[in-house]
Amino acid sequence: MATETQPQQMHLINHKDLESFVQQILIGNGTPEESAVIVSKCLVSADLRGVDTHGSNRIPSYMERIRQAALNAAATPTLCQITPVVVQIDGHNGFGFVAAHKGMERAIEMAKDFGMGMVSIKHSNHFGMSAWLVKQALDAGMMSLVFTNSSPALPVWGGKEKLMGVSPIACGAPSGNEARPFILDMAPSIAARGKIYKALRRGEKIPNDWALDKDGNRTDDPAKALEGVMLPMGGPKGSALSIMMDVFSGVFSGAAFAGHVTNPYDPSKPADVGHFLVAIRPDLFMTMEEFKERMDYLYKRVTESEKMAGVEQIYFPGEIEMITEEKRLMEGIPFAAAEVASLNKEADLVKVDHLKVQG
Ligand SMILES: NC(=O)c1ccc[n+]([C@@H]2O[C@H](COP(=O)([O-])OP(=O)(O)OC[C@H]3O[C@@H](n4cnc5c(N)ncnc54)[C@H](O)[C@@H]3O)[C@@H](O)[C@H]2O)c1
Repeated sequence: MATETQPQQMHLINHKDLESFVQQILIGNGTPEESAVIVSKCLVSADLRGVDTHGSNRIPSYMERIRQAALNAAATPTLCQITPVVVQIDGHNGFGFVAAHKGMERAIEMAKDFGMGMVSIKHSNHFGMSAWLVKQALDAGMMSLVFTNSSPALPVWGGKEKLMGVSPIACGAPSGNEARPFILDMAPSIAARGKIYKALRRGEKIPNDWALDKDGNRTDDPAKALEGVMLPMGGPKGSALSIMMDVFSGVFSGAAFAGHVTNPYDPSKPADVGHFLVAIRPDLFMTMEEFKERMDYLYKRVTESEKMAGVEQIYFPGEIEMITEEKRLMEGIPFAAAEVASLNKEADLVKVDHLKVQG
């Protein structure tokens, strides 16, 4: 690990090389090929969108959970149709990516038939960047809500102990030809905890308004921040959004809740994460054409609104990530040397060729 004053050398990785490398590691650790394809696509989608905190760098921690039998890579989620528009899924402690992918697939089918589909998932695991599920719905022309709960990292407003998760709230809606789709994907903390893990891996400092150390002081040291608590965005409002994620994803589904989800970096026991997914047909109240025109108009109004001093461009939610994706598809995905080394260590364990780096 580099020291705080020595940021690391960066390498560029082609997304296709990365996807097949990640897939081979997953298969080498007992993940069925069909599931390995889903997990690797989700992780590389995060890498491409610049959500480096929730991409392929998570592989070592996920693989450790498989090795310690805290996660069952071979599990097949089971579906139970509760009403024509409601499905419950038991993830059987398999990859969250696999259970949630199946869940969104089913939610989309129900929405096609009945206008909307709602899926509740229990006994699951961390599914990384929520936006990949929003994108799955967008690819089918659907609006979506994507909620999950997560392990304790955040105090409730007025408290000081880690209790709620930095559980992301995500949703999306398609647009017409003139605009980018709406993709909101945000943790209810000032920053996602993954950003602190990333700074630690890369030997970087963090802004001192993200977290408190274990003694309750603001800190720019990622290691001290991880011993302490994350700070909610917007004070009590961020704390309330985090509780909302626990109500819909944890209490409602039958998964763990109220501070009992296991941290994805803790390989000692199953996580029992819960998710809540909704797919909605955008043409329920007007034609699809009209909906798209209205989304295009909203996009224009937002991005062309008068800018405050010092702002060069106003972006639609999800737009910065889409621009990053376009760039990384062409140029490659940057990884710190220590991150490549730690992925290669995983490759060695299952006798897979090292990751190809472009430069
Ligand atoms: N699975 C889990 O348990 C878990 C937990 C925490 C976070 N996460 C993931 O971590 C990721 C990062 O979360 P985050 O809260 O740090 O995201 P973020 O703060 O980088 O972005 C939040 C949202 O704000 C939008 N945004 C950011 N800057 C903008 C700008 N200048 N103009 C307009 N819109 C802008 C983004 O497009 C995004 O929709 C997410 O993908 C989330 O799903 C996952």
